[in-house]
Amino acid sequence: MKMKSKAAVISSSLVFILSNWAWGDWCEGALQIGFYRGKCGIADVEAIVAGVVTARFVRDPTIVAALLRLQYHDCFVNGCDASILVDGSNSEKTAPPNLSVRGFDIIDDAKAAVDRICPGVVSCADLIIIATRDAVFLSLGVRYEVQTGRRDGLVSLPQNVSLFLPPPLASVSHSIALFANKGLTPTDMVLLLGAHSVGVVHCSLLKDRLYNFRNTGIPDPTMDPFLLNLLRLRCPQNTPTNNIVNLDQNPFMDNSYYQRLLLKRGILPIDQELALHPLTRGTVMTLATRGFDFPSRFGAAMVKLGAIEVLTGSQGEIRRSCRAFNEH
Ligand code: HEM
Repeated sequence: MKMKSKAAVISSSLVFILSNWAWGDWCEGALQIGFYRGKCGIADVEAIVAGVVTARFVRDPTIVAALLRLQYHDCFVNGCDASILVDGSNSEKTAPPNLSVRGFDIIDDAKAAVDRICPGVVSCADLIIIATRDAVFLSLGVRYEVQTGRRDGLVSLPQNVSLFLPPPLASVSHSIALFANKGLTPTDMVLLLGAHSVGVVHCSLLKDRLYNFRNTGIPDPTMDPFLLNLLRLRCPQNTPTNNIVNLDQNPFMDNSYYQRLLLKRGILPIDQELALHPLTRGTVMTLATRGFDFPSRFGAAMVKLGAIEVLTGSQGEIRRSCRAFNEH
């Protein structure tokens, strides 16, 4: 009896030590809210970034759209590891869907501001996530908490973009499959596409819907005729110039995006199809009618987006310049 209890004590201590070690290891490698607290003296890293973003937003509110798209395009390709920021003739940035991505200079400014206080501590991957949250707060009015502790990636290749990012004119079914590959549900996708309540799109991507929908010789019948005429004025058929049109006329993020989809006023094919597809239609209707919880649900979806395939602990690196891998 005595022997048995001794063995039991030893084995339970062993389990305790091992699980504690595993837990500690997991903790070291996991994202957490407030990761930078105390890592930069008394300076508040997130407040420094918020200062940079707010100053830019006052001059140019379109940074909200720029940063939202930047986070999405970063996180879908190699995870949220700032691989989209790397310069070069053969980096992710050079892939066609990324040629119109904006906001790189805001991350440069945020990096310079935090590095002035404590160099080499804050990752570019976290700066994208924090800056996007701050921009969304300025537009949507709700500030979601972000987890931090990401490290910067060591790979940035253009061919990875077409493998993982839904193409510009993707269907809902194809996009659902690509979102599922990243652990996101159709509901997450509908929520995240609420980001299309700000920003712009190039006319070249709308010509099919406006003039020759799927080679039928007529416009997309699911588009409201009033919107069709408006967009045709802005995007004439035979011109070499590639104008831009607003994804939404309202400069602030809100649930009116979903209301417009129910009125057949979605701009991109993916937008309008959300209101028609059996796996997304219900969520669109709920969000169109229950606008009050859109901001918190959108924030939760952004946090989920920001957790895709992150590097933590001793993986990757903390880049000195967000635009280049460190020299080793
Ligand atoms: C199936 C998924 C998606 C597709 C097919 C898609 C497609 C597109 C396309 C084609 C454009 C216009 C690009 C141009 O003309 O240069 C665009 C713009 C934009 N997208 Fe998406 N998108 C998707 C998901 C998302 C997500 C998840 C977010 C953010 C969470 C997002 C945020 C934006 C924003 C803010 C813009 C405007 C950017 C600007 O004004 O610079 N998109 N998207």
